[in-house]
Amino acid sequence: MFREFLDLGRHPIANAFLTEKEFSDEFFFDLKVCWDDDSKLVSIKDFVEPERIFNSEYPYNTSNSFPMVAHFKSTAEMLKEEFKPKSVLEIGSNDGPFITNFDRDTSVCVEPCGNFSLKTAHKGYQSYTYFWTTELSEKIKHHHGTMDLIYAANCICHIHDLDDTFNAVDNILSDNGVFVFEDPSLLRILERGSYDQIYDEHPHIFSVTALNNVLKRNGLTLFRVDNLSVHGGSNRIYAARENTIDVEDSVLDNLMREKEFGVDNFQTYEIFADRVAESKKNLVGLLRKITDDGKRIMSIGATAKSTTVFNYCGIGKELIDVITDTTLDKQGKFSPGVHIPIMSREDINILDYDYAYLGAWNFKDVIANKEREFVENGGKFITHVPTVMEFS
Ligand code: TMP
Repeated sequence: MFREFLDLGRHPIANAFLTEKEFSDEFFFDLKVCWDDDSKLVSIKDFVEPERIFNSEYPYNTSNSFPMVAHFKSTAEMLKEEFKPKSVLEIGSNDGPFITNFDRDTSVCVEPCGNFSLKTAHKGYQSYTYFWTTELSEKIKHHHGTMDLIYAANCICHIHDLDDTFNAVDNILSDNGVFVFEDPSLLRILERGSYDQIYDEHPHIFSVTALNNVLKRNGLTLFRVDNLSVHGGSNRIYAARENTIDVEDSVLDNLMREKEFGVDNFQTYEIFADRVAESKKNLVGLLRKITDDGKRIMSIGATAKSTTVFNYCGIGKELIDVITDTTLDKQGKFSPGVHIPIMSREDINILDYDYAYLGAWNFKDVIANKEREFVENGGKFITHVPTVMEFS
């Protein structure tokens, strides 16, 4: 049985940064979150059609984020060293920062956003501009054979039909192959109150508990979990065919920690919903107080996360003047729903502002390090994670 525990109101597509001309046609949906009693999976109640989100306009190219490029390079090296795969498939390869660490002749990419799959294709990689399905896995198996390593980062939690997704993996995985995927951790979101990781692109938010159940019902065994710091706390999940590999201690450790926190108990989600409402009250209160005092606020990082916060809290241009972002495709556009202008960091003088809200709070240290001059001149950062606060 599905039980709703959180209603975040009307939301636009979190990464659909737009021009003024597009304001009148903007798409909105109800962002509600529910919990499945049986599998313990947390999901959005009303999914948005994937074609609306993942198309050639999708702006998030991973290669633009230097910490993520380093992350994928070291992950690829680690997986090569340990599993020595002779064939590699990446699901959701974006513009290639992971797969390009592997030999192009033995690698295959799947990426529904045509703008990105074209980039890996131009680098000589077999690139399929499709959504991941059992039908596609059949086609790839026919042309390229089975795969020793299947990898996906920040992708599996984007797919509505998990049974088909895992069945497609099972279909193409070689007998002793490994399936490795990483996505934001539900436990970390609950622990730090980062409700902003809930948006259209994440129809599911994974706990190890739920994945263990859903993988099992599709013939796969979860045998290892790495807890990662990326995206504010993610889990790297390792799975293989049943009975091909021993389950390691990290699986039990993670299941125990989640149980202790109450991930398998609906009351935990009701408490989380109260915390989210409190966060909204405190953030809006703080921003209003600052602007009422005649001070100015800007935001750093036009993130999907900040789309959730600004739309849920009703924060617009009256509170935040401008958002800066390093992504070229976002600059000159407006943030979804609340339409705050987005500019390049170089095009504003940060010293004109008293406060900088961290839309990309997951890069807090990188940003604080870059913006030392702002702090030295009395500037302060604001974040809502883990609680609403200002700091310098
Ligand atoms: P993410 O949190 O979804 O990875 O997105 C981070 C966004 O923040 C991305 O659009 C790039 C932007 N960004 C900046 O504008 N300045 C920075 O210093 C960093 C690290 C990221």
